Amino acid sequence: SKPILIDCDPGHDDVFAIWLAAAHPAIDLRGITTVAGNGRIEHTTHNALVACTVAGIHGVPVAQGAERPIAGELKPAEWIHGANALGGPELPTPTTPLDERDALTLMRDVVEGSDEPVTIVATGPLTNVASFVRKYPELVGSIEQVVWMGGSTGRGNVSAYAEFNAWTDPESIALVLDSGVEFTMVGLNISHQALITREVRARIAAIDTRTAAFGAELLEFFCSTYDAFENMPDGPLHDPITVAMLADPATATTVRTRIDVEVQGAETRGATCVDLLGFLERPANANVAIDLDVDRFWGLVEDAVRQLD
Ligand code: BDR
Ligand code: CA
Repeated sequence: SKPILIDCDPGHDDVFAIWLAAAHPAIDLRGITTVAGNGRIEHTTHNALVACTVAGIHGVPVAQGAERPIAGELKPAEWIHGANALGGPELPTPTTPLDERDALTLMRDVVEGSDEPVTIVATGPLTNVASFVRKYPELVGSIEQVVWMGGSTGRGNVSAYAEFNAWTDPESIALVLDSGVEFTMVGLNISHQALITREVRARIAAIDTRTAAFGAELLEFFCSTYDAFENMPDGPLHDPITVAMLADPATATTVRTRIDVEVQGAETRGATCVDLLGFLERPANANVAIDLDVDRFWGLVEDAVRQLD
């Protein structure tokens, strides 16, 4: 199965990405690193440990990463994820220990320690991944690819054109793209196809595991804030699409194209300019996810919460 490391900022949807990676037989989850994004780093780290504790995920090291973006200020997504970045359920005290290594050291150890190239799944701002390719350029060739939830081929969710993870740390996206690492973007254009409908919520709530019960509470909270702030009563479960595509490539279609990130921009800082029609005549540097097989995706998510504790 495919060795991966998840770099995340849990975050309701990040938790489902961790669960899917831990549960799916085609995925070998070798490590989890945390980054500031949806919440401050104390919260996102705590929440990653909570995600493992609830689901009974043992033996996967969890290490803490960057507390702020490379440039600019952190503005946690409290309006969507709540003050602790995981609003809704009561959070158990984690029994999963925090690894003593920092995120970059754990990433290095996972990448160096693997026989096969490791895929880095990033579901938050790209701060840690950018710092990693800067610190260890000699290891870029040992990364199979970076699959990132963030960006968009069109509209944004924090400004007209910027998606939250991209807007939080645009400089990091540029660094990762410039490193030459194989890169796949899973943006809002596809994640807004993964709508957490009432039926989806009911199916998950009906699954008789602790993970599903906790997950159902996460989804209720997340849909309520999406309803209040984005006018979307069925919120989109962005992050697990990354893992789903690796577990089962038929989950989504991709195109090979060019991404440039807007780091200036009076109104567009953090916009990912996806040059689908080739206006810039620059070489392709990324794969961009386009169409989601919605039923297949939810089938994977439901199977995961059924299999965990
Ligand atoms: C992204 O931002 C976060 O709020 C979510 O966890 C997801 O990674 C969606 O814009
Ligand atoms: Ca996230």
